[in-house]
Amino acid sequence: MATVVLVGVQWGDEGKGKATDFLAAKADFIVRYQGGNNAGHTVVVGDEEFRLHVIPSGILHKDKTCIIGNGVVIDPAVLVAEIRGLEQRGVQMARLFISERAHLILPYHRLWDAVEEERKGKGKIGTTRRGIGPAYSDKAARTGIRMVDLVNKEVFRGLLRENVDCKNAYFERVYGAERVSFAEILSAYEEYADILGKYVTDTALMLHRAIAAGKNVLLEGAQGTLLDIDHGTYPFVTSSTPTAGGACLGAGIGPRAIDTVIGIAKAYTTRVGEGPFPTELHDELGKEIRDKGREFGTTTGRPRRCGWFDAVIARYAARINGLDYLCVTKLDVLTGIPRLRICRGYRWGGEELEGFPASLDCLSACEPVYEDLPGWDEALGEVRRLEDLPVQARRYLERIAELSGVPVLLVGVGTRREQTIVCRDVF
Ligand code: IMP
Repeated sequence: MATVVLVGVQWGDEGKGKATDFLAAKADFIVRYQGGNNAGHTVVVGDEEFRLHVIPSGILHKDKTCIIGNGVVIDPAVLVAEIRGLEQRGVQMARLFISERAHLILPYHRLWDAVEEERKGKGKIGTTRRGIGPAYSDKAARTGIRMVDLVNKEVFRGLLRENVDCKNAYFERVYGAERVSFAEILSAYEEYADILGKYVTDTALMLHRAIAAGKNVLLEGAQGTLLDIDHGTYPFVTSSTPTAGGACLGAGIGPRAIDTVIGIAKAYTTRVGEGPFPTELHDELGKEIRDKGREFGTTTGRPRRCGWFDAVIARYAARINGLDYLCVTKLDVLTGIPRLRICRGYRWGGEELEGFPASLDCLSACEPVYEDLPGWDEALGEVRRLEDLPVQARRYLERIAELSGVPVLLVGVGTRREQTIVCRDVF
């Protein structure tokens, strides 16, 4: 397997948790490299459902080392609750490590996220309000607080004092908002430091040694290509780098260490939050897909917007990430839809575009060019081999691969770990 990066192709929620969990069986190390508890992975093992926000889903496999990389922003309240919840269900934490360089999310980040969304009103991003953007803003502004600072009480106290004073002045004068309490944050975060301290280490060095020793490493991105701060539908994006380049930054490895990049795409498209979505279905079918696919956010419970598969996005993601393979998830959700559509291009100003537009005005005005394909009625949940899929489902997958220019590696046909078709043996 060597070193593999797993990235979302669309706007997140592609089913990366299940794919990570499936591929983790072959990995020794599983690394989360960006984002925070804005992400949510649902993994079903046997009859048990696990919802993870920060810890890599590889933790559900025994004997795997799980790393929360330096590119992640950590809300320690959420992480501690996640650790406790998993421990209560018998999941071992002995192989969990957290980068000392990962930045913290603090209560003033959550407040800042909320007041900034309120200020934007109609123009809001539709964030998860978990304080993600503000935490990355502080990181870039060089006023952030890292895990290495959290576990040094004196350093933490000083940094917190400075930040709370500055943020409170800002909350009061700019937003007319409430203040946050230095004493309350300090006491809560000192407790978190006591709990999390034992996990904090130089994870980049650990990974370097693992790769040098020939271990298999799976780097797991959260969100997706179109939520990337550089390459996504800015400003309706998250504040980190989910694309494959972000794996190097967020884990602390060089680009040459990466052997394979796998993109995860749903068999259709979804999006939460605001922003343009060319293949969105505003009709009953959109609602039907949302209900059948249980398209409600793992983190916020918000209904996801649903639409047809968009091969323009898949080709763009293939270029930006250097995709070697695609995992197509939730194919079973499309059963029973008589006519399926795939968007093969965008028409804008009388011509078909080659790239994915940076201008949101342009993207909103793009007209999808569709290809129609016949659907199928058979339930797919028990299918384990490509050749056992209905011929229409195979044709649908083939067309996705042709239009994306990327071969399909895995196909998801249900929520359970074993409901996966392996199309080619690469590992
Ligand atoms: P933030 O990451 O909370 O700042 O939210 C910014 C945008 O990214 C919003 O449109 C969110 O809905 C979206 N977003 C963040 N995390 C996820 C995710 O895990 N899945 C899907 N959308 C997400």
